[in-house]
Amino acid sequence: MTQDAWRSRTGFILAALGSAIGLGNIWRFPYMAYRNGGGAFLIPYLISVAGIGMALMMAELAVGHRFRASQPQAFHRGNKSWEIAGWWAVSVGMLGVTLYYCVVIGWTINFFFYSLPLSWEPNPGDFFFKSFLGLSKAPTQIGGIRWSIVLSTAFVWVACWQIVSRGIASGIEVALKIMMPLMIVLLLTLMVWSFFLPGSAAGLWAYLKPDFSKLLEPRVWIDAVGQTFFSLSLGFGIIVAYARYLPEDANLTADARWIVFGDTLFAVAAGVVVFSTMGFMAQLQGLPIDKVMKSGPGLVFVAFPQAISSLPGMRPAFGALFFLSLFLAGLSSALSLIEALASSLTDKFEAPRSRIVAIICLAGFFGSLMFTTGSGLYWLDIVDHHVTQYGLVLSGFLVSVFASWILGRSELLDHLGGNHDSLIGRLWIWLLRYLIPLVLAALFVWSLITDLTKAYEGYPVPMLIVLGGGWLAAMGAIAYWVCLQKWRSGPEG
Ligand code: PHE
Repeated sequence: MTQDAWRSRTGFILAALGSAIGLGNIWRFPYMAYRNGGGAFLIPYLISVAGIGMALMMAELAVGHRFRASQPQAFHRGNKSWEIAGWWAVSVGMLGVTLYYCVVIGWTINFFFYSLPLSWEPNPGDFFFKSFLGLSKAPTQIGGIRWSIVLSTAFVWVACWQIVSRGIASGIEVALKIMMPLMIVLLLTLMVWSFFLPGSAAGLWAYLKPDFSKLLEPRVWIDAVGQTFFSLSLGFGIIVAYARYLPEDANLTADARWIVFGDTLFAVAAGVVVFSTMGFMAQLQGLPIDKVMKSGPGLVFVAFPQAISSLPGMRPAFGALFFLSLFLAGLSSALSLIEALASSLTDKFEAPRSRIVAIICLAGFFGSLMFTTGSGLYWLDIVDHHVTQYGLVLSGFLVSVFASWILGRSELLDHLGGNHDSLIGRLWIWLLRYLIPLVLAALFVWSLITDLTKAYEGYPVPMLIVLGGGWLAAMGAIAYWVCLQKWRSGPEG
């Protein structure tokens, strides 16, 4: 029943890479690396990418390719009682990530325009938190809706609607073929530019200097695994949804290598841009690097504008390029999130794609509104933390178990085009069957203990219960409810 298909292998790889490369590479990776010992982080990260990331990427590709279906339908076909695990993945993607992700993409549009007149001067911190976000004093104080953010968020949802409703070949593939090369050129330009800024060497040194003592801290490894998931878009049903449109003879192992390698390279390169620029700023202000480095949203939306303002010339151009590449990176990831949900719902309800996508985008826009108020940043932080630490980790665990136990060794290897007796084939299966589930379960428990002993970021506990625990419960309830509905033309449809 699937008529749509990728027009070319390049189109598929660009789309999968577009999903993987996102805001996570540009602000999350550099900061994670820095916090966990600079160069020392690269070692656990690369191990985690090569071990867990690569194996799960192949597993998700194989599931999509084998069943030619979205994750809920694929899981149902493998074993009826697994359908809910598929809905969990797409529900975590939509409610747990897309709703706020589209708001952050919206910010990049606002900042693109702010970078032309350098609106953030003289104080980028005050500008971002006070004038732009109108951040309230506490997460319980909702504060008003920020209309400039609502407007840019609406634009993002309309763009997603327009592209995803056109389908895979004429929507997503066409858009990605334009967006990805543009984003790569922009990033390379920024890389060369920032590399030659005075002081960049000190920034790069802070980024790449190894600190092996950190390797003994479990936290470093946990961050490395979390970053692997987030960055490679694993556990959301996205890769499954994209792989269903691949031709029979696709080389999944080679595709997985391209996606994983490309995403990792991009993260490392984005780190060079961010750290060189921070080095430049540190030299300018005569401060050590760690005083100018800020985490998360602060890094991109505060420290970067500050750095741009201190550039000797071409400031609007540098800012505009930076926020444009951030926008493109974010949008290509959002498209994949929406596609994963849309293909799951069209499978189940047999409704036309255009109608389903329109409903998702309209509902999504209204859902996003809760992150556009004065307390939006706090809410985003709380939801993101719980979704990544629990929702995603659980989802990865389930995919790993499904692929290796339910789909099974020989089918998995058939689809991966692997040699059944090769050492590497056996190693993948062993990773998926034992090591990855074990590591993910440990991660889950470790996060739970940490969160129960200490309120995350010192937020008020009732807030954490409602927005964190409640959110997870709501995602579970929705997944369960959809699972109970009838397949319009049977799951084999
Ligand atoms: N992988 C994307 C990034 O690095 C984020 C993302 C998460 C994309 C979830 C899709 C789904 O930013």
